[in-house]
Amino acid sequence: MGTAILSTSDQRVLAAFATALAAAGEFVGATAPNPPVGCIILDSVGNVLAIAAHPRAGAPHAEALAIALCDQAGTRHLIDTVIVTLEPCNHTGRTPPCVEAILRTPARQVWIGVADPNPQAPGGGAARPAAAGLRVGYLAELDHPEAAQLALKAHRLIAPFAKQVRTGLPWVTVKQALNREGSMLPPFGAKTFTSEASLLLAHRLRKRADAVLTGSGTVLADAPEFTVRHVADFADKRRFLTILDRRGRVPSTYLDAARARGFEVFIQTDIAAALRHLGQLGALEVLVEAGPALLQAMREGDLWDEWITIEQGEGADRVTVTPRENTDRKGK
Ligand SMILES: NC(=O)c1ccc[n+]([C@@H]2O[C@H](COP(=O)([O-])OP(=O)(O)OC[C@H]3O[C@@H](n4cnc5c(N)ncnc54)[C@H](OP(=O)(O)O)[C@@H]3O)[C@@H](O)[C@H]2O)c1
Repeated sequence: MGTAILSTSDQRVLAAFATALAAAGEFVGATAPNPPVGCIILDSVGNVLAIAAHPRAGAPHAEALAIALCDQAGTRHLIDTVIVTLEPCNHTGRTPPCVEAILRTPARQVWIGVADPNPQAPGGGAARPAAAGLRVGYLAELDHPEAAQLALKAHRLIAPFAKQVRTGLPWVTVKQALNREGSMLPPFGAKTFTSEASLLLAHRLRKRADAVLTGSGTVLADAPEFTVRHVADFADKRRFLTILDRRGRVPSTYLDAARARGFEVFIQTDIAAALRHLGQLGALEVLVEAGPALLQAMREGDLWDEWITIEQGEGADRVTVTPRENTDRKGK
């Protein structure tokens, strides 16, 4: 990746990608089984005409919403550049194809963050506008370090979706808190030992997850609620709660209370089967909140994608995010 000076219009595209990624980021955790996607539309001199993100499955896609915003503002005729974090769809699913919606506007350029990773999708989200005479570019083609950073962000944004459509398995995030002695166990009578900031992080991670996976040991020790409380949750979002409990020790009172909190609850005896089951249900991301026994099994089975370690510090806790080596970052 070079450090070439970008043209003014490419600088605008770069800045617009940052905005579109941020817009999509607001809905991470809300869109399953669809990916989060953001779109921004510019006029020919780079003014922002619309910013939109796909809010949930069944709702219009980001591109359709952005074009609708232009219609509402009476600026459809000014549409010049459509910038979208994921290749536009070229097929009719629950909503009509976004490529056709773009081609009905006067757009001259389409910029794409990441190619559609879905092997079942017919493709053409980039080829169709190119065949119609539009300039089609990918974020990674911009020769600037910031473009490379944003491309990584765009890949991470859809990594759970990419894994799900390629393997049928959800993205697995493990959260592990360690005290100053390197132990995961809270002091007697407490459920946690980390800071307020780490608690907030934990609730953000729950918010973006479609399922929580835990072990019977954690349930029996702490009876955790596993709800999103320290940040505002998505309205009407329902999560799965899967408990690994081979010996059937988790009491039905806990299961009933979890259901009353809105969870769809499953007892499983095998971690890989539990993940396959959650994938079949359309979960994009699973958050593992479990004790040392289950976490060791996750590590040994190589069943994780992102490992988030929160280490108790003297002042602030230290948070380390470790991606798996082979996490997909291939773009177009
Ligand atoms: N610091 C943190 O981040 C954190 C997070 C959560 C919990 N904790 C603490 O962890 C402690 C509990 O530890 P723990 O290790 O007992 O809890 P755990 O890992 O949540 O649960 C252990 C149970 O999970 C099941 N299990 C483990 N490996 C399995 C496998 N390969 N396949 C299927 N089932 C499997 C087993 O239950 P069966 O034998 O019945 O099948 C095992 O007894 C609590 O004190 C809690 O506060 C700490």
